[in-house]
Amino acid sequence: MNDKQRVAEHAAQRIEKGMLVGLGTGSTANFFIEALARRQDSLQVQVVASSVVSAIKAQDLGLPLRGIEQVSRLDVYVDGADEVTTDLTLLKGRGADLVREKLLAKASEAFWVLIDPSKQVQRIGQNSPIPIEVMPFAWQLVQRSLADIGGEALLRRNGDGLFVTSYGSLVLDTTFAPAMDAATLNDRLNAIPGIVEHGIFKGLATTVFCGRDGNVDEYQA
Ligand code: A5P
Repeated sequence: MNDKQRVAEHAAQRIEKGMLVGLGTGSTANFFIEALARRQDSLQVQVVASSVVSAIKAQDLGLPLRGIEQVSRLDVYVDGADEVTTDLTLLKGRGADLVREKLLAKASEAFWVLIDPSKQVQRIGQNSPIPIEVMPFAWQLVQRSLADIGGEALLRRNGDGLFVTSYGSLVLDTTFAPAMDAATLNDRLNAIPGIVEHGIFKGLATTVFCGRDGNVDEYQA
């Protein structure tokens, strides 16, 4: 069992009977969905998925799925992350489902983040650019606005074409100078018209579980 599997098992053991559980997207979230499904006979949970791929996986494993448009509050949302700082700020969005991921994280009583040590960083943006989803017709105007605040934004590509998210947006993968802190950046990105969503998750995670050398460390917000 690797660290991602172990941390997913650990989180599934924390789920309580009858909960409404949000399912993240990615390899760690997949391990969690499998671990949850193994406990479903006793747990009798319902789930909401952050992506089509997680919805299909949950359904295939017999987890009762509710549509995101049918729920207003979840007990817990469980997902991976690309980067996590010591104050539990996250960077997410390497995949195509950032909008639903943040919606579910915000709508949940608790947001559990499942990582291995490779995701722990000193600052957001240390290892990856910030994914910024933009309305397709707005990408050049947003690129200009990002340049005004010191961001170097490149349209994400997919082979010969452009990468399109599940929401139908384009993505500007954007790097900023290391001196730009995540809280300031979060506020500035939230204020730019044409941005649909971005990958900084600030003040949302309640617990980070980190699988490390056969154990699971817990960090509380
Ligand atoms: C999805 O958009 C991402 O935010 C993932 O949650 C993140 O990339 C973690 O993925 P892994 O669990 O596959 O490392």
